[in-house]
Amino acid sequence: MTLYAHVVGWGKYVPRHVLTNDELARTVDTTDEWIRERTGIGQRHLAEDDETTASMAIQAARQALDVARLNPARLDLIIVATATPDHVFPATACLIQDALGASHAAAFDLSAGCSGFVYGLSVAANLLTAGAYQTALVIGAETLSRIVNWTDRNTCVLFGDGAGAVILQVGENEGGVLASVLGADGSGGDLLRLPAGGSKIPTSHRSVTDGLHFIEMEGRQVFRFAVRTMPAATREVLAKVGLSPTDLDLLIPHQANQRIIEAAAKSLELSAETVYSNLERHGNTSAASIPIALCEAVEEGRIQPGNLVVAVGFGAGLTWGAAAIRWTRPLPAPLPRWQQFLRRLRYFLARFRSRVRRVRRRLSAHWVRDDLNGREKDV
Ligand code: ACO
Repeated sequence: MTLYAHVVGWGKYVPRHVLTNDELARTVDTTDEWIRERTGIGQRHLAEDDETTASMAIQAARQALDVARLNPARLDLIIVATATPDHVFPATACLIQDALGASHAAAFDLSAGCSGFVYGLSVAANLLTAGAYQTALVIGAETLSRIVNWTDRNTCVLFGDGAGAVILQVGENEGGVLASVLGADGSGGDLLRLPAGGSKIPTSHRSVTDGLHFIEMEGRQVFRFAVRTMPAATREVLAKVGLSPTDLDLLIPHQANQRIIEAAAKSLELSAETVYSNLERHGNTSAASIPIALCEAVEEGRIQPGNLVVAVGFGAGLTWGAAAIRWTRPLPAPLPRWQQFLRRLRYFLARFRSRVRRVRRRLSAHWVRDDLNGREKDV
């Protein structure tokens, strides 16, 4: 029996705070005209002080669960693609698992730069179609504003914050994630990197004063890599299922630069209507860009059941990835009131459950210590 991994839920979250090009031009040597012309970006959303990658991802995940009408306890797997986790460890996926009350889910983070969401989608879809799991939550979430050097005009104009999520569920009907291709070329690792904070350059006073905790990027080389890779990966994933770019209903490219998107569209001979772009409103949100775009495209009615969609990304690593999806779900009606209440209750209980577990763990650690001390005295 052939199994398929269907996209049954989707959600997104972007912070309320918007930074326009004009506002940015007041603090750094740039102009709205330059940014729009060279990148297509008009504004970006930035996380408030109390927002993090996990908090934004939780909002996106809750929305996706609503669309799928799914109880989080039924999730088997949570994958979070991010370059800006809340901590090096524990994984951001575990923080999300706890907040959702997804008590039966395995959870891990995945690092593949802006290709991360496509990597996550591919891993989850393959685990589902192999019969290992039934339901997976795949998230792309970033708080890039925390690793951007706001005095470096070469990078700070490009990035924004946000999160996007999809839920994959196994089914016997044909459709869903039909195929994926993933690739990497580590020889380009130095083109896009965050030098400090890992084992090579641990965070220190020196690493901070040298500014090594900020994104470093060779923009032109990344640009050329992207223009070459995106059309190639799109063709490859379509060929895997015996299709070609002419069969595509919508291409969802990683939102990094409008000129990259247009070059990819030209190479694939796709019309502007067949290529989705929200770069003007969000900037580059790295691993979050594709799921946010996917979600907005569905909400705008640009993806309908039966449509063939390709999500294609490139990013730090260097990495790339593409996934061909046969869409099978219509836009659902809004959640009825009683279900909204149930949902709030469920997340309240998840928080309560988490507190109880923390207290129980603390108490049992205390008892174990007393017990050990007692035994030492006996000896
Ligand atoms: N405002 C005004 N001038 C600027 C700015 C700015 N914000 N940034 C650069 N310039 C200047 C440069 O200093 C340069 O001046 P010079 O000629 O006097 O030296 C001039 O503009 C041209 O600079 P280029 O770097 O050649 O500009 P380019 O047209 O290549 O655009 C950009 C730069 C937008 C960064 C482009 O190369 C790009 O988009 N590259 C891809 C980046 C990308 O996609 N990164 C994300 C990867 S995904 C991930 O994993 C995070």
